[in-house]
Amino acid sequence: MKRVDDFRLTLGKKELVPLIIGGMGVDISTAELALEAARLGGIGHISDAMVQDVSDRRFDTEFVKEKTKFYKHNIDNSDKRVVQFDLGRLAEATKLHVGQTMEAKRGDGMIFVNCMEKLTMNGPRDTLQVRLNSALDAGIDGITLSAGLHLGSFALMADHPRFRDAKLGIIVSSVRALQLFLRKTARLNRLPDFVIIEGPLAGGHLGFGMDWAQYDLGTILDEIALYLKTEQLDIPLVAAGGIFTGSDATAFLERGAAALQVATRFTVANECGLPDKVKQEYFRASEDDIIVNTVSPTGYPMRMLKSTPAIGSGIRPNCEAYGYLLDGAGSCAYINAYNQQIALHPDGKNISVSDKTCLCTHMRNYNCWTCGSTTYRLKDTTRKLADGSYQTLSAEHIFKDYQFSVDQHIALPA
Ligand SMILES: Cc1cc2nc3c(=O)[nH]c(=O)nc-3n(C[C@H](O)[C@H](O)[C@H](O)COP(=O)(O)O)c2cc1C
Repeated sequence: MKRVDDFRLTLGKKELVPLIIGGMGVDISTAELALEAARLGGIGHISDAMVQDVSDRRFDTEFVKEKTKFYKHNIDNSDKRVVQFDLGRLAEATKLHVGQTMEAKRGDGMIFVNCMEKLTMNGPRDTLQVRLNSALDAGIDGITLSAGLHLGSFALMADHPRFRDAKLGIIVSSVRALQLFLRKTARLNRLPDFVIIEGPLAGGHLGFGMDWAQYDLGTILDEIALYLKTEQLDIPLVAAGGIFTGSDATAFLERGAAALQVATRFTVANECGLPDKVKQEYFRASEDDIIVNTVSPTGYPMRMLKSTPAIGSGIRPNCEAYGYLLDGAGSCAYINAYNQQIALHPDGKNISVSDKTCLCTHMRNYNCWTCGSTTYRLKDTTRKLADGSYQTLSAEHIFKDYQFSVDQHIALPA
């Protein structure tokens, strides 16, 4: 009987364990978590979501404080057009986050950064260009383009000296999205080094509409594999979303995937950035507690726990401090939803906004409990302690369980 360890992912000259820990912003997939994946011979992701805040927490910088101070005059203004990111500071924060992580890297694996296009940062093109190129400057092994179509993103890096040597890939959820991307980037003569196919059972934002349940990862993988074969393109395909055991993973490798991207099982790892209290919420969750809704201002459906504090919260938009979801015209769907409530309750008291959430603030404070569809099974991966809580696991334990287990077996911690 085969297991994940019988397969290898070849990327350039590298032979890797075909396991990738997915990017989870904001700092849920911490540097520590990504470093473990690399040490064990796989690939780990950090995320550059809200990188200035992450840098402040990791390195005691004061990017957020400085930005808030600079735009303090605008806090009561619902027009956020003036709230721009300083591109120099953005580059500095990215280089710190990525550079320090790369310096700490040990082992034969790789570290990639997950870049969400939908973090439009009130200047979509310029800020993305800085994020991508600064990550390359700081020595990142690879970049995964996510949450958005990214049709112009390769071009934003085309002049960088590492454009052809760093591993660049994209997350798609349909053959059509991949076709569009390849068509758009054809003139650069640079194919993606890997394509992650994220199915409807993943955590975070979904690349589907609210009809997500009608789609199936295996079918999309087959469609994309067939398309690439027809076009005579050889690009490793990575399956993601709902892969919970080593046997699930092996089944996708046998079906033609070159690797798997997994995340949910690592949300309860010791190295994961979620606070302990939130990890316990994930452990305790039942299947009915997991929902897909449209509260994210990005416009993409998002999966989360029903009890997420972010749902229904009516906090004042925090764009002067954060502002990562402001579109190119300085607006965000949450600001509009919030303003509608303020118009109904001019005293500003007891404001509750139910259709959208202030994603920056709540992700930053770990109050948006996004999770994968298999979260309710996490309790089966560990032991319950005498006080009723669940034991968190080392990332190494989870990684090796995927790598070596067979027969739908899940190894419990010692
Ligand atoms: C808590 C959490 C946060 C996530 N955040 C992101 C993100 O910021 N960007 C992204 O591209 N994918 C994100 N994802 C998706 C994962 O990277 C991954 O592709 C997917 O969840 C894999 O499926 P699984 O969780 O069922 O293993 C997130 C997933 C989880 C569970």
